[in-house]
Amino acid sequence: MEIELSCNSYAFESLTVEPFNAEPPRSALISSYVTPVDFFYKRNHGPIPIVDDIESYYVSICGLIENSKDLFMRDIRMLRKYNITATLQCAGNRRTAMSNVRTEEKMIMLSPGLTSYEMQHAVWSGAKLADVLELVGIPNLTSVTRSGGKHVEFVSIDKCKEENGGPYKASIPLSQATNPEADVLLAYEMNGEAQYSVVALFLVVWATSCLNPVELTSWLTLNSNAYSKFFLSIIMPKPLNRDHGYPLRVVVPGVIGARSVKWLDTINILAEECQGFFMQKDYKMFPPSVNWDNINWKSRRPLMDFPVQHNTETCWLTVRNLLTRGRECDEAWKADPQLLYNLQAKVSGYAVSGGGRGIERVDISVDGGKNWVEASRYQKTGIPYIADHMSSDKWAWVFFEVIIDIPHSTQIVAKAVDTAANVQPESVETIWNLRGVLNTSWHRVQLALRDVLSTKIMCLSLIMMFTGLLKLL
Ligand code: MTE
Repeated sequence: MEIELSCNSYAFESLTVEPFNAEPPRSALISSYVTPVDFFYKRNHGPIPIVDDIESYYVSICGLIENSKDLFMRDIRMLRKYNITATLQCAGNRRTAMSNVRTEEKMIMLSPGLTSYEMQHAVWSGAKLADVLELVGIPNLTSVTRSGGKHVEFVSIDKCKEENGGPYKASIPLSQATNPEADVLLAYEMNGEAQYSVVALFLVVWATSCLNPVELTSWLTLNSNAYSKFFLSIIMPKPLNRDHGYPLRVVVPGVIGARSVKWLDTINILAEECQGFFMQKDYKMFPPSVNWDNINWKSRRPLMDFPVQHNTETCWLTVRNLLTRGRECDEAWKADPQLLYNLQAKVSGYAVSGGGRGIERVDISVDGGKNWVEASRYQKTGIPYIADHMSSDKWAWVFFEVIIDIPHSTQIVAKAVDTAANVQPESVETIWNLRGVLNTSWHRVQLALRDVLSTKIMCLSLIMMFTGLLKLL
């Protein structure tokens, strides 16, 4: 018996068309551990490019290496395929809440509608960047190439106005790129999606129309092994979705989404980090004293891992009271009006930390942070979640859940703690920054029980008045 009390301001899907940006409703995100592709947020700085000739598509690897190389998709697919479960998050996640703190400052809102749900979780499949770099003579765990290369720049096909019409680009340190444990991927599939080929469809239609059911069953029984092998071979894995980087994108787990470059064109080995706009002028965090008049872009380094000090991410909450909605709620109310004064809420959500750190704890409070209860955490059903344990997904978000007594209308707050004991900061005011990045402050949900109560009390009073009147008559 549950009624959902939603946090209205977040229960919408927002879009900007050029460039195409979208975010899913909150309920979609917490409904499954792996986010369905349709519910992925889309974050773009330029128009989405179309790569229609996959045979001639290749990635150039060049820069400070001895032998440059062009890799076609077939070369990349020849390498060992890895499936990496990783949560992607944009550094601008929850930016609106930060821009509300200082309305006098003109914070750049690249996409004014986008506020809260620039986070998703997928199983990415592809080749490890460490294996790709070995093909051009850079061994695993290299921090500097013989020619002095220390950074790996990813250059995309799409063009953005911030780069004066040039391509979107970003870089990561070579030591991270060549470390197989860092799981940096060149991904060509997501969520293990499969597609049925036209040939498969044709064969199935043909078999069912030509053979009578008895023949078909006996043929299948006799050839079940061969048939299943053949059938599996014609179920083709679906390539990466176009919005999310078809045919090839970088996935840098544990690092802000901006470094996971989509529609990869070139991999450049550089002595210095990438000098592109999104490394040098966006996705940097400045102190609160910095404004548009005194900003010195070079004074801060580009953001990489999710926040260092308050390292756990957003705890989005879904709040349900244990009464029911609609008619069932009325039944429950009639049966026991006291229920309304004995409310509980199920608080659930997700938490994630950068750099592969696990979630050690999620605390929930219904009295503004004076008292806390600990929520249970889980990733996969039936497997207990243990932070930083082999059985847990290292780069993935962790769901949490707790049922808690709600004494009165209140604000529910949550904070997560990661395995390095980093805690989310209490208020957005204390971490305000000009670019509006990394708002990891406690998430708050207002529980307006007064509305539920007052409607019910009003109804009860009317019923009482009505029965009183009837008696009088
Ligand atoms: N790659 C290219 N080529 N162009 C872009 O605009 N946006 C980046 C990153 N990679 C971007 C890009 C940002 S800011 C984020 S948060 C993620 O892609 C979003 O990935 P998604 O749209 O697949 O969710």
